[in-house]
Amino acid sequence: MNLSLYGKTALMTSSPIGIFDSGIGGLSVLRGVRELLPGESLIYVGDQGHVPYGPRPLAEVQAFSVAITRFLLAQGAKMVVVACNAASAASLHHLRAEFPDVPFVGMEPAVKPAAEQTHSGVVGVLATPATFQGALYASVLERFAKGVTVLQDTCPGLVGQIERGDLSGPQTRRILEKALRPMIAAGADTVVMGCTHYPFVIPLIEEIGGGRLRVIDPAPSVAKQVKRVLEARGIGSGTQENAGVLYYTSGAVESFDSLLFNLLGEKAHAQALRWDGAYSVSSANSD
Ligand code: DGL
Repeated sequence: MNLSLYGKTALMTSSPIGIFDSGIGGLSVLRGVRELLPGESLIYVGDQGHVPYGPRPLAEVQAFSVAITRFLLAQGAKMVVVACNAASAASLHHLRAEFPDVPFVGMEPAVKPAAEQTHSGVVGVLATPATFQGALYASVLERFAKGVTVLQDTCPGLVGQIERGDLSGPQTRRILEKALRPMIAAGADTVVMGCTHYPFVIPLIEEIGGGRLRVIDPAPSVAKQVKRVLEARGIGSGTQENAGVLYYTSGAVESFDSLLFNLLGEKAHAQALRWDGAYSVSSANSD
């Protein structure tokens, strides 16, 4: 059965929640939202034609975020989850100002629970440069990291490894060891996934940490926030029956499909998106 067609049918019965990321990282958030809210139809956009966002100027990431939001709204999205820390850092404020009627849920590195849970008083944050540069991260540190030492690493190349589906090979291991060894040596007992791609390498992080690192994946908290916003606005689907997901990528469809299967065990066929200053469904799609 073509699950994307199943998804399309399901989407007609209720307005979907739009979720986007630079690539497949936001699937870690989608997984959390689906577990908590199985009755919500979802539309996922992976902007793989532009991944990674992390090293790009904030203004460019902001332009992609606005254009993806326009695309999601054109598909009938009732709310938008910015399932990307880099895009949230670059654009959440701007998106809320540009689309005042649209409810947005964004990401911020989960320093608060890390600071609450650490015993050693040392926590690590793994995120991309755009996230560390943004005002959002500075404000998170200011608000929640008092009395705690926070160590940071951008894990250069890790997003690319995960986009290639390499979750445990030698290069992926090297990147993570380089980031984590100094944190562990400095006494870190808790590490925050400040990039939505990184939860897919949690098993490797736990292995490198030798069972001594608590790893914080923000997806369950983000899903709870989505639920709170739906309830506050009275726009929940009102059903617990499994709804569908439509997937779009601005990169190669076959590779998205196979990553989706490897990461979430889901067989679906993504639609291709075209970028020409705006996102639209590519005429190359064949179904
Ligand atoms: N998944 C994204 C995040 O949460 C970033 C990956 C990228 O650099 O594109 O920050």
